[in-house]
Amino acid sequence: MSGATPDPDGATPLDPDEREGLRFSHITTRGELNELEQANIQDGLLWLSRRRIRNVLTEDFMRGLHRRLFGQVWKWAGEFRRTEKNIGVDPLMIAIELRMLLDDARWWVEHGTYQPLEAAARFHHRLVFIHLFPNGNGRHARIATDAYLEESFDHPPVDWAAGHDLLHTSERRNAYIAALREADKGVYQPLFDFVGI
Ligand SMILES: Nc1ncnc2c1ncn2[C@@H]1O[C@H](COP(=O)(O)OP(=O)(O)OP(=O)(O)O)[C@@H](O)[C@H]1O
Ligand SMILES: [Mg+2]
Repeated sequence: MSGATPDPDGATPLDPDEREGLRFSHITTRGELNELEQANIQDGLLWLSRRRIRNVLTEDFMRGLHRRLFGQVWKWAGEFRRTEKNIGVDPLMIAIELRMLLDDARWWVEHGTYQPLEAAARFHHRLVFIHLFPNGNGRHARIATDAYLEESFDHPPVDWAAGHDLLHTSERRNAYIAALREADKGVYQPLFDFVGI
């Protein structure tokens, strides 16, 4: 995406095919796209707050949530990624890896393996590491993690932005991306610090 606002560090670039799925042909800048996505996300959050069924730890929820958050902007919202990215597992492994993560996340709840925020941090990192979708993985996974905290632990959400701007280059975003990169190497402490453990 061209325009005044460059992609922040840690954002995944879109393939031409994926860009084809944009429902608005007039968009030329990252700023315009952000605004449309943000409006869609507000609707998605409303849907999330109103739903009754407790199914966060299912593929159905993970895909449905992405569709609710981004479906007014992207035709491929809610569909798993089909192309390789610089982040993420092989596209053919997405469904399998997700299934293992959801099973693990359920196990952690049932066995009290981790305190809620530690389970949330581990869940969040695994989810973005798999990188389910062509775009919107960070925003989807932050919201999904909060839904996991609420549904499985009756715990308040993570303060992701902490009064800063997480979508654009900022100290807070740099700390977030740096913490995820450490977690890629198995070093979870920076991410635990980030979520406020
Ligand atoms: N090294 C990494 N390991 C794991 N996850 C990462 C890494 N680098 C970036 N990420 C995650 O990928 C996200 C970017 O992917 P994507 O562009 O699909 O999400 P997004 O929601 O559009 O981005 P944004 O975070 O800017 O809102 C980051 O927000 C972060 O959650
Ligand atoms: Mg992005």
